[in-house]
Amino acid sequence: MGKISAAITAVGKYVPDFVLTNKELETMVDTNDEWITTRTGIKERRILKGEGKGTSFMAIKAAEELIQKRGIDPKEIDLVIVGTATPDLQVAATAAFVASQIGATNAFAFDLEAACSSFLYGMSTASSYIESGRYKKVLLIGADKMSSILDYTDRTTCIIFGDGAGAALFEPNEEGLGFQDEYLRSDGIGRNFLKIDAGGSLLPASEETVKNKQHFVFQDGKSVYKYAVSNMADVSAKIMERNNLEEKDVDWLVPHQANKRIIDATASRMGVDSSKVMMNIQKYGNTTSATLPLLLADYEKQLKKGDNLVFAAFGGGFTWGSIYLKWAYNS
Ligand SMILES: CC(C)(COP(=O)(O)OP(=O)(O)OC[C@H]1O[C@@H](n2cnc3c(N)ncnc32)[C@H](O)[C@@H]1OP(=O)(O)O)[C@@H](O)C(=O)NCCC(=O)NCCS
Repeated sequence: MGKISAAITAVGKYVPDFVLTNKELETMVDTNDEWITTRTGIKERRILKGEGKGTSFMAIKAAEELIQKRGIDPKEIDLVIVGTATPDLQVAATAAFVASQIGATNAFAFDLEAACSSFLYGMSTASSYIESGRYKKVLLIGADKMSSILDYTDRTTCIIFGDGAGAALFEPNEEGLGFQDEYLRSDGIGRNFLKIDAGGSLLPASEETVKNKQHFVFQDGKSVYKYAVSNMADVSAKIMERNNLEEKDVDWLVPHQANKRIIDATASRMGVDSSKVMMNIQKYGNTTSATLPLLLADYEKQLKKGDNLVFAAFGGGFTWGSIYLKWAYNS
């Protein structure tokens, strides 16, 4: 038996129907389509509407699409990981609810929170469980209802984020495909620049915190931008160097969709042509944990077995990193 690597064998996605355009945002805050487009690359984002619908609603839909595409019995799934910064509830793991709802009754399940790097870190976790031989099917979902933590009177944050979910199944591979290498980093300095102040153990919810709007995302955009640009480019260049990948060897850059300018800077540092850069920020904005699997789902038809993919992400915390993976199937 050859060495076991962890390959992605199927993907699924879900985005809500409601489209919030830049034009509509112009009626809500002091902004304009031209500013948003040139500064971020975003034209529109999806918003999950409807009472009683949380992040799990989208995670379940993405997982169900994946299960149907792969044609597996959900009972075969060993583990469900939900990467999210917006769990349904504070204490009960969203992943446990998702696993039960999709019929993954033999799985255990947990959430993974690393802000915009949740899916990337989850890829590392899922791959480790497969490579060790401990489990055969790990379902990794990235899902966020960012609209639930945004202040739609704050033009510096509400224009950036959107809602969505994506899923990927990790299974053993003996052809050397799948996960190859990772370079993951974090730095606690980041919590000064991108955070929700209240509702956690440091500052529990109170009338005061609600009045002060401390349950919404706060971001010092300029500082986050500075860290994101240099760090995302650094780790991507590093993973190429460590694996002797030249730009011609990289078939796809799969970058977290935070800002088109950050993505362009990363691609340029890697020397990768824009035709090889996955991009859907114009349609969905920054969906936090969902950006990477949404890209895989949108580009799935263009991916070929053996393609070299370099993933890169940067998020709150700060958390960031890069993963090198060989695509394992033709669709
Ligand atoms: C948020 C971000 C798009 C702002 O772009 P920027 O070029 O840094 O813009 P600035 O914050 O310097 O603001 C420039 C001006 O535009 C204004 N502005 C801010 N938001 C605006 C909006 N939505 N519409 C119009 N004007 C806006 C500012 O008030 C500022 O005006 P001033 O010069 O009169 O003070 C950018 O900083 C960014 O993408 N940061 C990283 C975000 C990110 O990646 N977050 C997630 C990490 S995973």
